[in-house]
Amino acid sequence: MNIDVLQESLTIIRLRKKEFAATFYENLFAEYPEVKRLFVGTNIKKQETKLMTVFVIVISNLHNITYLKNLLKNLGTRHVKYGVVLKDYDILGDILIKTIKSYLQEKWTVEIEEAWKYAYQTIVNLMLEGATNNNTNHYDDRLPYIPSIVEKLRAEAIAQKYLRDGRSLNLVKHKLKDDYYFKELESQIGTAQTMEIISDVVKRASQKELNYNKVTIS
Ligand code: HEM
Repeated sequence: MNIDVLQESLTIIRLRKKEFAATFYENLFAEYPEVKRLFVGTNIKKQETKLMTVFVIVISNLHNITYLKNLLKNLGTRHVKYGVVLKDYDILGDILIKTIKSYLQEKWTVEIEEAWKYAYQTIVNLMLEGATNNNTNHYDDRLPYIPSIVEKLRAEAIAQKYLRDGRSLNLVKHKLKDDYYFKELESQIGTAQTMEIISDVVKRASQKELNYNKVTIS
């Protein structure tokens, strides 16, 4: 595999990373609308970042094949759950090459095309190994979890409801700790930091609740 060629073209793409990822999904859905069904309910903006992060991680770690093997096998196992089938990998590969080509323009060469096709196929082969082997741990290599503003607002609404029902601040914190989002967050960033975020959410919720009461009483 021509690692230098890959890294060079990745450097060009990374200069316009966000734009590239957005174009990638635009091209995907325009040319293969049938795959849209897999992304129902997906936050595409977040998904764009995740996909790009994997490409950057993979291309930057081509020398550390053991690490990559585990990461990609587990990713492949999770893709079975997302409903992704073999044919979808060909579709994504086709769009990947087309999108890179449109970004590199006159810098695009047969050598780059071959290097990317080879790299993509290697990634897919490892993911498919994970898709057929269920002994992998699905969670140990997830991408760093970024506390999501949408999830925090959702949690705030839940907390507000409990507070309105007369529950104590401590009880609301405990309830939130059992929520799927905070469980996932806890596994990513640890209990202490998660509890800090929960405290913040509950504080904001109780503030909102106070304001709500003021408005309804006056
Ligand atoms: C090189 C191949 C691929 C890479 C590197 C990749 C990367 C990722 C990553 C990092 C995630 C985030 C969730 C997780 O870590 O489990 C994800 C989720 C997902 N991917 Fe892929 N993927 C690939 C191929 C595909 C293909 C071929 C499809 C189908 C066309 C697909 C559809 C999905 C869907 C539906 C999700 C779930 C989105 C959600 O959370 O709602 N992926 N992918």
